[in-house]
Amino acid sequence: MTTWILLSLFLIGVVITEHPPLIKSDKLIEYAPQASTEPTLGDQSNENLENNVTRLLDKLIASHDRRIRPNYGGPPIEVNITAHVTTISAVSEVSMDYTLDLYLRQIWKDPRLAWESDVEDSLTIGIDMVKTIWTPDTFFPNEKKSFFHEATSHNSFLRIDSHGNVLRSIRLTVTANCPMSLHTFPLDRQECALEVESYGYSTKDIIYHWHGANAVTIDENVHLAHFTIGEHYHIERTISLSTGNYSRLTAYFMFKRNIGFYLIQIYFPSSLIVVISWVSFWLNREAVQARVAIGVTTVLTMTTLMTSTNASLPKVSYVKSLDVFLGVCFFIVFASLLEYAAIGYLMKRNRSVPAASPVQYYETGDGVLKREASRKKSRNRRDSSMKNYQNNNIHHRPSDGHVDQRIPLLSMVPMPPIPFKPQNGAWGKVRPAQVDLFSRFAFPIFFVIFHIIYWTYYINQ
Ligand SMILES: *[C@@H]1O[C@H](CO)[C@@H](O)[C@H](O)[C@H]1NC(C)=O
Ligand SMILES: *[C@@H]1O[C@H](CO)[C@@H](O)[C@H](O)[C@H]1NC(C)=O
Ligand SMILES: *[C@@H]1O[C@H](CO)[C@@H](O)[C@H](O)[C@H]1NC(C)=O
Repeated sequence: MTTWILLSLFLIGVVITEHPPLIKSDKLIEYAPQASTEPTLGDQSNENLENNVTRLLDKLIASHDRRIRPNYGGPPIEVNITAHVTTISAVSEVSMDYTLDLYLRQIWKDPRLAWESDVEDSLTIGIDMVKTIWTPDTFFPNEKKSFFHEATSHNSFLRIDSHGNVLRSIRLTVTANCPMSLHTFPLDRQECALEVESYGYSTKDIIYHWHGANAVTIDENVHLAHFTIGEHYHIERTISLSTGNYSRLTAYFMFKRNIGFYLIQIYFPSSLIVVISWVSFWLNREAVQARVAIGVTTVLTMTTLMTSTNASLPKVSYVKSLDVFLGVCFFIVFASLLEYAAIGYLMKRNRSVPAASPVQYYETGDGVLKREASRKKSRNRRDSSMKNYQNNNIHHRPSDGHVDQRIPLLSMVPMPPIPFKPQNGAWGKVRPAQVDLFSRFAFPIFFVIFHIIYWTYYINQ
């Protein structure tokens, strides 16, 4: 029994000791509303202000027809625009467009929304109010697609001051068309425009203006990986369409392409491939496999580099400056492969032309071995010489065993000249060694001169 009593007492003790924190937290929760309900005087004035503003807005909207522009029948309404660019992304030469994130602010004066300034000087109102007042039907003529930002609510606001000046700010992402000329790619700079116009109201109803000299600003944190953002400027103009004349604003953004990526990925590797192809000139002329392998490999590597480079670019039908560079590199690599073909031809020809005395005598009898050696050397020569023997009506005696064709004893016949046509011009005397020596210097000099001309021409463009 006593154990039960002790146990129940203990449990009660636990319950009692457990309770205080709960009570404390309850008190804490109760504390906040109590604190806020304490000042009653200020709350009343707040309520008064709220009521006054509500009444004011109701009054403004009640007399407002949102279907009709301000100053209807009078002079056109001026709509001022400012744009603050917060992000520029995806300047794409493949799709010829670029994407901007911007705050578009439109400022206009609607006298119907003016009020006596005893309540507030300016009111920032929820975007729902937009549905009840007139707003300009601004659009971007060169836009491809664009969207509002809706997180967490529609990213826009409306501010009205007591004189009826309305400021509407919207956060937008706009992908705009930007035709690019890639003639000097990748040393090019592109100019992309963002155009602003009214869709329906002609110059009789709306005139757009940039709001001051600094109407277009770019956030200083805007950076692009492959472009440097240059200057930007903006113009105002009127364009004539079949439906009337419209006021159009244009902001231009300059993008200067960063060459670094292309230097590392294309210019440097392709120059190295060209240099590798020159290794062939320093190798032994007899090293056929090594020289052909270098030639073919460098040609194939250049082909791959050209194909992969152009795969990420639009299929333009004109020659870009990158194409010029890669084309010349390919030409040099190809020429060094052809150089070996020329060497091979010269070597073959020189082998078939005996460099010794112009008149040779066939030895007879004992000289059979010598003749055998020379026969091995060139089959063509033997054939031609044999033909001539036959023409000269010299008959061979049948051989007796070891040697097939035995030349008659004591017949010392001068060897007929080989019907070899000497090449016209310098080729007749050129030796393969000279070609290699010439190439060793001519190819690098040509490449260096090409580099100098290429860079001076395209950098000055
Ligand atoms: C609200 O309007 C009334 C008159 O309509 C004025 O007396 C009062 O001071 C206004 N309240 C505030 C907070 O402006
Ligand atoms: C619009 O901007 C021009 C200057 O560009 C200025 O003269 C004019 O007062 C502005 N209009 C409004 C309604 O702010
Ligand atoms: C548009 O402007 C031109 C002059 O710039 C004028 O000749 C033409 O009549 C105007 N068109 C309309 C519809 O107002």
